[in-house]
Amino acid sequence: MEKVFGIDIGNAKTEIAYRENGEIEFVRQPSVISHLPRTPESTDMGTDQIIENLYDNLTVHISSPAIKRNGDYYVGKKAMQHDGIKTNMMISLGGKSTHDLPLITSLSLVAAKALKDSYNKGESLEKSIDVNLKLATAIPSSEYSKQSAKNLEDRFNGKHLVTLYIGEEHVLVTIKIEHCKVTEEGRTAMLAFLDSENDILKDFINGYKDKDKSIPRETKDFKNARTLHVDIGDGTSEFVVIEGVNPVQGLSKGKRLGVGHASDLAISLLKDQINISDKFTRQQLQEWLKRKNEKGQLARDLMKEATFGQAQTILEEIQLSYQELASSDVDYIFVHGGGSITFRPDLEEELKIFAENNRFKIVWIPKKYATTMNSRGTFHLANLIFNKN
Ligand SMILES: Nc1ncnc2c1ncn2[C@@H]1O[C@H](COP(=O)(O)OP(=O)(O)OP(=O)(O)O)[C@@H](O)[C@H]1O
Ligand SMILES: [Mg+2]
Repeated sequence: MEKVFGIDIGNAKTEIAYRENGEIEFVRQPSVISHLPRTPESTDMGTDQIIENLYDNLTVHISSPAIKRNGDYYVGKKAMQHDGIKTNMMISLGGKSTHDLPLITSLSLVAAKALKDSYNKGESLEKSIDVNLKLATAIPSSEYSKQSAKNLEDRFNGKHLVTLYIGEEHVLVTIKIEHCKVTEEGRTAMLAFLDSENDILKDFINGYKDKDKSIPRETKDFKNARTLHVDIGDGTSEFVVIEGVNPVQGLSKGKRLGVGHASDLAISLLKDQINISDKFTRQQLQEWLKRKNEKGQLARDLMKEATFGQAQTILEEIQLSYQELASSDVDYIFVHGGGSITFRPDLEEELKIFAENNRFKIVWIPKKYATTMNSRGTFHLANLIFNKN
């Protein structure tokens, strides 16, 4: 089968975007893998049930010249729940183009999507599936260079073998990547913005309409704007000056700031208070935060404390970026990424005051769009490049 995908390789989650029945759809899993010393025992669930829950139970064998360690892996949520040694992207700067993890998570999701499609079409399990894929993805502007982009393109291009373990059965998915385009995350965010429905400006318009009647009301009004993008992720926050859709060379930086750092602090506070395993991951904390029990409440209290401090540091970094990176010369600061949701209550008001004092405006991307800007942008780019019809 032929596929066109956009992929966001995030520290927190890997997300693939594709078109189905005319709509853009997303599949995501936590960016966590666990290498397995031996093939795990098969479960005795029925095939229907396994396929239904495939993304949350990814158990794969990967063989690819692009990765350092071929073998069996749990990927995503399954890896997170596993008791063994887990690898996540380690809140690192500059590792997305070289690390094994982005390829392993991306290829596993692609294989699972192909298998689901094939199964749902034919209602039987094929022994092998061939996928011809064209994809676009992005690395942070602070990591981006022509060379690092090309390295990642070269690693994605070519043939990768992913075997999915489906109970007793094995399905071999051969993924041939014919074209891979690697760009930078600021560009993809702006492409996604310009390609969005105008309701992406809902918060912006509601926030400013009473003070300024002449504010832009459509995304296309921003197509030549000079903007500073603040993408608050899990492990890194990116600050990028963008003219139209083009990041300005040299005017970007990545900082080790984000939800993951607040989570790390919350985890160490949690460790001081109750007994938890040394292997407790940031992603596990995310699960705890959703729980409606005493532990969930404690986690939420500690996370609140940690979040406040991280938000202050991010605010200072935005102010510094506005002054130094953007030479105080942009009309808008765009704020997005998962951290724009987490830190909004602690960040928005002060940032708006700073903006008002300095005569520029804040475009806070609504929650609905905040975490998918990069995957939507990469998918849009993939279509611009590969589907020229
Ligand atoms: N409603 C939400 N949906 C998704 N993530 C959220 C939400 N609210 C807060 N978050 C947090 O945002 C973070 C994910 O942000 P994002 O998806 O931008 O990160 P990423 O792209 O995976 O990481 P990075 O940009 O650092 O590589 C997670 O830590 C998550 O806990
Ligand atoms: Mg991101």
